[in-house]
Amino acid sequence: MSFQPQYMSGREIREQFLQFFEKRGHQRLPSASLVPEDPTVLLTIAGMLPFKPIFLGQKERDYPRATTSQKCIRTNDIENVGRTARHHTFFEMLGNFSFGDYFKKEAIAWGWELMTQVYGLPPERLIVSVYKDDDDAFDIWHQDIGIAKHRIQRMGEDDNFWKSGPTGPCGPCSEIYYDFHPEKGDTNIDLEDDSRFIELFNLVFMQYNRDSDGNLTPLQNKNIDTGMGLERMAQVLQSVPNNYETDLIFPIIKTAAEIAGIDYSQSDDKTKVSLKVIGDHVRAVVHTIADGVSASNIGRGYVVRRLIRRVVRHGRLVGIDGAFINQVAETAMQLSEAVYPNVRDRESFIKAELEREETQFLKTLERGEKLLAEILEAKPKQISGEDAFTLYDTYGFPLELTQEIAEENGIGVDVAAFEAEMEKQRERARAAHETIDLTVQGSLDKLAEHIHATAFLGYTDVQSTAKIEALLVDGKIVESAEAGSEVQVVLDRTPFYAESGGQIGDRGYLSGDNVVVRIDDVKKENDIFVHFGRVERGTLNSGEAIAAKIDRACRRRAQANHSATHLLQAALKQIIDDGVSQAGSLVAFDRLRFDFNCPRALTPDEVQQVEDLVNTWIAEAHSAQVAEMPLEDAKAKGAVAMFGEKYADVVRVIDFPGVSMELCGGTHVHNTAEIGAFKIISESGISSGVRRIEAVSGPAVLDYLNLRDRVVKDLCDRFKVKPEEVSDRITSLQEELKATQKELNAVKAELAVAKSDSLVSEAESVGEFKVLVANLGTADAKSLQTAAERLQQKLGEAAVVLGAIPSVGKVSLVAAFSKGVNQKGLQAGKFIGGIAKLCGGGGGGRPNLAQAGGRDASKLPEALEAAKQQLADGLK
Ligand code: ALA
Repeated sequence: MSFQPQYMSGREIREQFLQFFEKRGHQRLPSASLVPEDPTVLLTIAGMLPFKPIFLGQKERDYPRATTSQKCIRTNDIENVGRTARHHTFFEMLGNFSFGDYFKKEAIAWGWELMTQVYGLPPERLIVSVYKDDDDAFDIWHQDIGIAKHRIQRMGEDDNFWKSGPTGPCGPCSEIYYDFHPEKGDTNIDLEDDSRFIELFNLVFMQYNRDSDGNLTPLQNKNIDTGMGLERMAQVLQSVPNNYETDLIFPIIKTAAEIAGIDYSQSDDKTKVSLKVIGDHVRAVVHTIADGVSASNIGRGYVVRRLIRRVVRHGRLVGIDGAFINQVAETAMQLSEAVYPNVRDRESFIKAELEREETQFLKTLERGEKLLAEILEAKPKQISGEDAFTLYDTYGFPLELTQEIAEENGIGVDVAAFEAEMEKQRERARAAHETIDLTVQGSLDKLAEHIHATAFLGYTDVQSTAKIEALLVDGKIVESAEAGSEVQVVLDRTPFYAESGGQIGDRGYLSGDNVVVRIDDVKKENDIFVHFGRVERGTLNSGEAIAAKIDRACRRRAQANHSATHLLQAALKQIIDDGVSQAGSLVAFDRLRFDFNCPRALTPDEVQQVEDLVNTWIAEAHSAQVAEMPLEDAKAKGAVAMFGEKYADVVRVIDFPGVSMELCGGTHVHNTAEIGAFKIISESGISSGVRRIEAVSGPAVLDYLNLRDRVVKDLCDRFKVKPEEVSDRITSLQEELKATQKELNAVKAELAVAKSDSLVSEAESVGEFKVLVANLGTADAKSLQTAAERLQQKLGEAAVVLGAIPSVGKVSLVAAFSKGVNQKGLQAGKFIGGIAKLCGGGGGGRPNLAQAGGRDASKLPEALEAAKQQLADGLK
């Protein structure tokens, strides 16, 4: 019974699998990206995902059989990572697929042959399961393969009916399990018992599509989709106690342990869990970032951020102080580069991203940990929702992290109250982003049944006739509006573009018999366009027919800026990184703004290259091809979509072939040459990992250059120099100014000392001593000292304390005490040190003469007052 598997490296397990199916007519394909084309899922969760359209019959198959090792990420069980033997975020799924070709019989026979012949697992170590009603599969296992009936378990819907999500392709499945403890016998086999069994291979007989109502319809073809966890097979064939200790992950764990200065094998369970979490998550973030995802607060960006933060946090738990993530990431890259070369191709991007996130989170953690320690010190029964929310909102502590730390302290978190705080926050955000004035919206809602969606004609027309469907003044429905009224007008159809996708609403006029309305802005809600404007002349009546005409010059500017924004995104992808993605944009008449995910600032040289490339495309005169198509098709063609944006089933694609292809509802130039020119005005960071480029294009470039030109001309006039000499002239003026400032300070100081003689009369008597405390303005430290010594000598038995602010934010203090003052127990050094503390500083010196400094100039008057009081008390 005792059986020792033949050791096989992770790489070999993968290779053997792919070769096995290649030999059986399968096309070997590379792993698809972790970022799926399927918009219904955030990340690739199974080997079948890239083939979903083929299973559903939406896409032609290029080959009837395929085999892959697919990178996958599942985060639903993230809490279990490291705690159980086999939970992962990132893992590789080996699979063989049949697209309407072979079915159960072959899939089962090959699955068995692979397990027993290729991986050398003895039949008595393998147990199989089938879907409860799947007699076909049962019979194949029993009759063809020869498995005893009691070793074929029938399982229910939850275990043996596989689906890729709530909707989509699905079907009954059959699984092959490995038995670690066959000595426990064949009675009471419980496949759920993961101390005894591990599921190695899942064969899905993909034959249904589930719709959103839960109905199953048979697929046109019967397909096969299988999945074998590479890490699981490695655990078995490498005879290690869990997936993390396989050669696929353990080197990362070792690196982390080395950094922490600990030995994995000697560590307690908690430390091992943390090291395993690091090993697992680091692989996940390296591959996800390699596939173009940047850390952010939404969607897959949030998955990356959360994983990085968990790595950092677990690093601290095992005693690593400071940054370390790139060291472990390096090991992860070394482990995968041969099979996934893109991790090296994207190395600099990955490392920059990891470093930035880690540094930032370490800072946040420190501040948050302090707060959390204070909260925990009060020994609460649980962490309140408000506190958890503050930690989340202000210190970037994800809820899970607060929960984890709370759990370490044996308490929980009031999650319901936390959620309530989150909802309040969302509510605030919603209110702040209301697109249409609430009263207008309220009135429109009332009219909703009568008003139809506005027909938008503006892609082709700049003017049209239209009927006034609704007329509002101050957000209230009215029948008519006089000249001078601010109005909101809803038309049945319109050439006016309503603000959306970053592009602002059109301007223009509505005109009818004896009435003219100037339109300044257009917004839409539920496809009802609201034109905001002012009646310039006459009376506007609801129900009336009018002519609607947009301001073509403004529209041309918006078009130039919008198309330029698309070119800008394409140029950034080409020059900076293919992973650059849009985070927001504004397309106005006079400028454009493009926010994008990128972990670092662009160099001036890169900014120039981006600008040059856009201008090249403009000069090359690329014609636009605008088409409407199903979202799936647009994505398949490679059109850039904005992540997190909701798209309709049919989308509009703006294509400048070979240059840029984006999903977009905006208005665009017909040819890039119409843009004319493009100029970047600034590149800056707006939040962590998000950069902003502000630019102008079209006629706005001339406006911008003219404005700049006027500034330069004005400078030339004033300095009486040529434009190219302005810079030198300013440098020399700055130097002159600095020298003059220095001289001025010296003179001021001298003056202060000279004036200090007059302070003698201001000295007060305390007992037998004279006490003088004074503010000498901007005198520097040296003059202050000279003045203090002179004054003390003139005053005889005396204590003199002088203060000044020699430069912005700096405080200078000096104390000169006579012998008698020292005999009273007052030492100049100690004394002035205490006073300086009040100004956020310190210092000291001899008993008779000492100097000190501080940083908070606003506290100087207070500090001098305190000095006076202390001297009065001390010398009584
Ligand atoms: N698609 C199947 C799974 O993920 C093979 O288990």
